[in-house]
Amino acid sequence: MGPQDQYLLLLLTCLLGPPVRCEEPHHQEEESQGPSPGPGHHHHWSYTDILEWDTDYPDCGGAAQSPINVDTQNTTFDPQLRPIQLSGYDLAPGETLELENNKHTVVLKLPDSLKIVGGLPHIYRAAQLHFHWGSDSSPGSEHMVNGHRFPGEIHVVHYNSEYKSIDKAITQPGGLAVLAAFIEEGPDDNAGYQHLLDHLDEVKEGGNSVEIPGFDIRGLLPQQLDRYFRYNGSLTTPPCFQSVNWTIFNQTLLLSAKQVGSVDNPEYHPDL
Ligand SMILES: *[C@@H]1O[C@H](CO)[C@@H](O)[C@H](O)[C@H]1NC(C)=O
Ligand SMILES: *[C@@H]1O[C@H](CO)[C@@H](O)[C@H](O)[C@H]1NC(C)=O
Ligand SMILES: *[C@@H]1O[C@H](CO)[C@@H](O)[C@H](O)[C@H]1NC(C)=O
Ligand SMILES: *[C@@H]1O[C@H](CO)[C@@H](O)[C@H](O)[C@H]1NC(C)=O
Ligand SMILES: [Zn+2]
Repeated sequence: MGPQDQYLLLLLTCLLGPPVRCEEPHHQEEESQGPSPGPGHHHHWSYTDILEWDTDYPDCGGAAQSPINVDTQNTTFDPQLRPIQLSGYDLAPGETLELENNKHTVVLKLPDSLKIVGGLPHIYRAAQLHFHWGSDSSPGSEHMVNGHRFPGEIHVVHYNSEYKSIDKAITQPGGLAVLAAFIEEGPDDNAGYQHLLDHLDEVKEGGNSVEIPGFDIRGLLPQQLDRYFRYNGSLTTPPCFQSVNWTIFNQTLLLSAKQVGSVDNPEYHPDL
């Protein structure tokens, strides 16, 4: 095993782009406290008023705004980083999960028995996962690598187990850990993804939700969990708290053209 085999990367510099797009924590509408949104906030942000986000949500103008373009020339190998290790991800079919179309994307709520137990300074518990898909009307992945945008991106959102709940963690530095991976088109169906795609037409309209049987959530992430980019960033949508320890896997996920096409519903996409 040479250094090549253990290819962990740390993005040391905060590569700031324009405040591109942000991510909404799924419970944000219910949230009544926290440092922002400030006075005069509107809860119904949209992607068309990106440049105004930091008026209503001061954190959206922060120094560590996500997403970013990962410039691989500007990354540094960090020998201290360890492979991401997951626990409890293999859910039995008897365990039901709520799948929701929240009008921005498709969200799968996750039990907090799913954990990241290696590769980060704390143990992090899962809360939900969601997607940023591409289509004619939305650009696809949020992060970019060397200026390249991918057809889709999965985000598995976790919160630091030092906090009692995600609501407590979400405003704190290192309070959240998001595992991100890029989706690309390949020749074959991805069996892991089919568990989820099978239920998409049950949540065709914004606001719909459905209970689906548990499956191996690990199958939604790449095989290789030891090659990733790490950086301190933020939620990518309002309220943009600067609280996310990001992990962006270097290995991409391959889905067939048919599978990628099956998400081609404007309701599953950020509402540009
Ligand atoms: C990330 O944030 C932590 C805690 O604030 C800090 O110790 C660390 O140096 C930061 N890392 C980078 C790469 O900026
Ligand atoms: C790489 O990082 C340096 C130092 O932060 C920065 O000045 C430079 O613009 C970055 N290069 C690119 C291409 O982003
Ligand atoms: C994110 O994780 C890295 C370890 O990879 C750690 O050095 C850093 O302090 C963490 N950032 C925060 C804000 O906790
Ligand atoms: C993976 O890492 C290689 C080597 O740095 C880079 O060329 C490639 O663009 C990366 N791909 C992704 C999706 O991170
Ligand atoms: Zn996201």
